[in-house]
Amino acid sequence: MTRRVLVTAGAAGIGKVIAEQFLSSGDQVAICDADAEAVAAFAAEHPEAITAVADVTNEAQMDAFLESVEDAWGGVDVCCANAGTGGPAGRIEDLAYDDWQRCIATNVHGAYLTCRWAARVMQAQKSGLITITSSTAGIAGYPFRSPYAAAKWALIGLTKTLAMELGPFGIRVNAICPGAVEGDRMDRVLAKEAAARGESEDAIRASYVTGVSMKTWVTAQDVANSIAFLASDAGDKISGQVLAIDGHTETLAP
Ligand SMILES: NC(=O)c1ccc[n+]([C@@H]2O[C@H](COP(=O)([O-])OP(=O)(O)OC[C@H]3O[C@@H](n4cnc5c(N)ncnc54)[C@H](O)[C@@H]3O)[C@@H](O)[C@H]2O)c1
Repeated sequence: MTRRVLVTAGAAGIGKVIAEQFLSSGDQVAICDADAEAVAAFAAEHPEAITAVADVTNEAQMDAFLESVEDAWGGVDVCCANAGTGGPAGRIEDLAYDDWQRCIATNVHGAYLTCRWAARVMQAQKSGLITITSSTAGIAGYPFRSPYAAAKWALIGLTKTLAMELGPFGIRVNAICPGAVEGDRMDRVLAKEAAARGESEDAIRASYVTGVSMKTWVTAQDVANSIAFLASDAGDKISGQVLAIDGHTETLAP
């Protein structure tokens, strides 16, 4: 059966791989992203998808995108609240309030605007899967990244609560917690952390697996595969779970 799948921040990074995983299975896909160039490139590559330039923290832009999806499809089967940002790196006393707020807003307020729509639409149809992308920073303390850890723990609370509110309607809600994912974003994070801690990028890169049992980074495809599993019949009793795709994080402390 063709599923209707929405992915926020779906034009690049992990969201794009999630979107392409569902497209390759023949599903209908809608993505939004704040980066207009990335959206145009995604639309050119995948003309069959619904695409929109929308910042997940902007209520008017998100409502317009979500309404257009509802008009086109009349419902949604899988909603991936994937958008997030790493935020600033540093000791809490050195962080700027603006940077703190932007990090919390993109991760938490963005998930709220996405999930409140999905909750309404899915309750009417009495089915659906919501995935909320947290992080291993949502299951362990993360020194020098306090706003990111605070935001990603908040998303675990949102996941557990929505699983309880929506479970009676046949709707599943799970948190996805990737470990360090290979790619541009982590390259940027490593550079910021290296500067904040006065160490080399190589040393910081190596430190990312010291607390990981399997001593590995993960790929965006690993994350997409886990969401595909949750969206399959094999995952249809899994809800309220915090699924780490990370080779088992023992600690994020360096
Ligand atoms: N990359 C990792 O190592 C990693 C690890 C754990 C969790 N995560 C989480 O996975 C999710 C995706 O991460 P990623 O690595 O693909 O990110 P990324 O930084 O590569 O960005 C992917 C896309 O998100 C878009 N985006 C950023 N802010 C947005 C906003 N406010 N509204 C709409 N779109 C926005 C960007 O334009 C970009 O196209 C995030 O929630 C992130 O916190 C990532």
